[in-house]
Amino acid sequence: MADSQFEVKVIPTKEEYARLVEVLWAANFNPYNPIFTAVHPISGHTPEDRARDKALDTEVRWNASQKSPFSHLIYVIDKATGEVAGGCEWFIFRENPFPNGPQPIKCTWYPEGTERAEYAERMLSQAFFPRQCWFQRPHAGVNAMGVHPNYRRRGVGRLLMEWGHERIDPLGYESFIEGSPIGRWLYEEYGYRRVMGLHIDFDEPNPSDEWSRLVHECKPPGILLLWRPPRGEWTEKVPPGPWAVTDLTFK
Ligand SMILES: CC(C)(COP(=O)(O)OP(=O)(O)OC[C@H]1O[C@@H](n2cnc3c(N)ncnc32)[C@H](O)[C@@H]1OP(=O)(O)O)[C@@H](O)C(=O)NCCC(=O)NCCS
Repeated sequence: MADSQFEVKVIPTKEEYARLVEVLWAANFNPYNPIFTAVHPISGHTPEDRARDKALDTEVRWNASQKSPFSHLIYVIDKATGEVAGGCEWFIFRENPFPNGPQPIKCTWYPEGTERAEYAERMLSQAFFPRQCWFQRPHAGVNAMGVHPNYRRRGVGRLLMEWGHERIDPLGYESFIEGSPIGRWLYEEYGYRRVMGLHIDFDEPNPSDEWSRLVHECKPPGILLLWRPPRGEWTEKVPPGPWAVTDLTFK
């Protein structure tokens, strides 16, 4: 059984998080995930570039998580080898995370004013706009899920999902994921359903060469907005989507 071979842990230090970053980069280059390359720093493709970029990625994301009381970085360890098999970030918002309504999301890993920063901001701001509009209430979410290619289809993704559901189900929280087609089947197994597909709009009237290159290399496939009502229970009381939840007694 997969569960006995692996253990799920909260990541204790930045050094340990750096090990997960290695895995997330491997996961997102196999197969190539255009969203990942837009929203993580990529300054080149030599081994030196990779080492520098992963170090910056570790720094930015670890620091952001440390600042948020709602962010939980977790990973799955192979008990036999000590290797990191996969990991993700769970958000468990115990209060309304968007009291000021939807806000643009800033890119801090590319220099301000560059087209790469603008491209990442446009992608993230559009991808997270529905969540910011619909979930102005306590809820949960999963971000940056990845399992190393060598460990796929062995239940590691399931363990990562279960860690969060064990914590949010007693609280009766809804959960929401801006998912990719690859993650979809895992999420659906846990009671998430697609409520909408999202197309990110990068159109520009007179795009520069750099903008056209970014659109070519980093254009995401449709983003699937997946919603799980409290405890994943789809009853006749559940509204058609989170936008229709005006009364939390539907739980
Ligand atoms: C998506 C991902 C995290 C799944 O991790 P995993 O550890 O392989 O998933 P599990 O072994 O726990 O799979 C559980 C179930 O999910 C479904 N599933 C997972 N991967 C699937 C795939 N490629 N195709 C179809 N169903 C899949 C299956 O129902 C599977 O059960 P089964 O293997 O008994 O049939 C992994 O493929 C990955 O890292 N992909 C690249 C990064 C990525 O796209 N992340 C998602 C961002 S939204």
